[in-house]
Amino acid sequence: MKKRYIEKNMTTPTPKCIPKATQERIARLAEQARQARAEPLTPARETEIKQRIKAELIRQDAVLVAHYYVDGPLQDLAEETGGFVADSLEMARFGRTHPAKTLIVAGVRFMGETAKILSPEKRVLVLDQEAECSLDLGCPAEEFTALCDAHPDRTVVVYANTSAAVKARADWTVTSAIGRDIVAHLASKGEKVLWAPDRYLGGYIQRVTGADMLLWPGSCIVHEEFKAEALQSLLREHPDAAVLVHPESRPEVIALADVVGSTTQMILAARNLSASTFIVATEQGIFHKMKQAAPEKTFLPLPTGGLGGTCMSCATCHWMKLNDLGKLSRVLETGANEIFVDEEIRRKAVVSIQRMLDFAGRRTDKAACPG
Ligand code: 13P
Ligand code: SF4
Repeated sequence: MKKRYIEKNMTTPTPKCIPKATQERIARLAEQARQARAEPLTPARETEIKQRIKAELIRQDAVLVAHYYVDGPLQDLAEETGGFVADSLEMARFGRTHPAKTLIVAGVRFMGETAKILSPEKRVLVLDQEAECSLDLGCPAEEFTALCDAHPDRTVVVYANTSAAVKARADWTVTSAIGRDIVAHLASKGEKVLWAPDRYLGGYIQRVTGADMLLWPGSCIVHEEFKAEALQSLLREHPDAAVLVHPESRPEVIALADVVGSTTQMILAARNLSASTFIVATEQGIFHKMKQAAPEKTFLPLPTGGLGGTCMSCATCHWMKLNDLGKLSRVLETGANEIFVDEEIRRKAVVSIQRMLDFAGRRTDKAACPG
């Protein structure tokens, strides 16, 4: 069993902060999303809506691509209807190569935009235009561009959780599944990196690659709630548990992980590691697929509040939870929530995404997730 410790001098890097007004806006929008979440459907209504959706998907030559954080019924429906459930990298790849005329993206807005950037000839619909991401909101294109302009000697690498305009200013767009490898590749060529927007993911990549990185100070409001003290407490109760951590988490939490990876990589680890119990630090929607992938194993959410094994304020991305079957049905009936990206921005943004996809294509470890 590996030694669990918190490195001396390991503190949360905060070179500068997201402006207070932006932080308040993020908190306000997250709260609005929490309040807007729909009530669960009755089983009869769910069956009826699913039948309608299935018929419309066929009639409109549409396919559903869902992220692991959306509710279980949407994930299941995506797979039942020939669609896909995945992390951000695999969602992008699937949407680009699938022959359907319409892509329906169940996730947050940047995922819909990425699909449109890669497949401009397809109609791309999202279930709710208010499905934001705190990383995207915390990195406005104008301020970001000014920082890039001030550092012309740095290669600009942005996380996929950004707007199309930010991606358009970047040299590379990366996801959590591949960001570490891409930055290691750049560092091996002696390139210095300007990274945005997640300071925790950026800090993690900086620590493991040794790259020279300037970090934008953004964060995921879900993952930054996880605390090392709560994890250590849970580990005292379950000393043999393996710890799976998404790299948007704080460095003190990452330091205690057995596996740090994207949502797909976490699910694969849950299936492949020999441990029978796992402590999981990411959004709670992932448990749906984790339990399918390894039904005989026990998964414990890392509590975001309190210190016991009981989840008190279970990690929830309220924007992801805006996706539901009722909205999917309405979007299919009305064609609402189509994603459009300005063509000039799209042509620039696609270059930075395509670099990542080409890099991923050259790797041998294709990360398809088990059902
Ligand atoms: P993944 O690419 O690992 O699925 O992460 C997306 C995300 O938004 C995590 O919070
Ligand atoms: Fe954004 Fe965090 Fe939600 Fe992922 S979990 S979509 S990073 S707010």
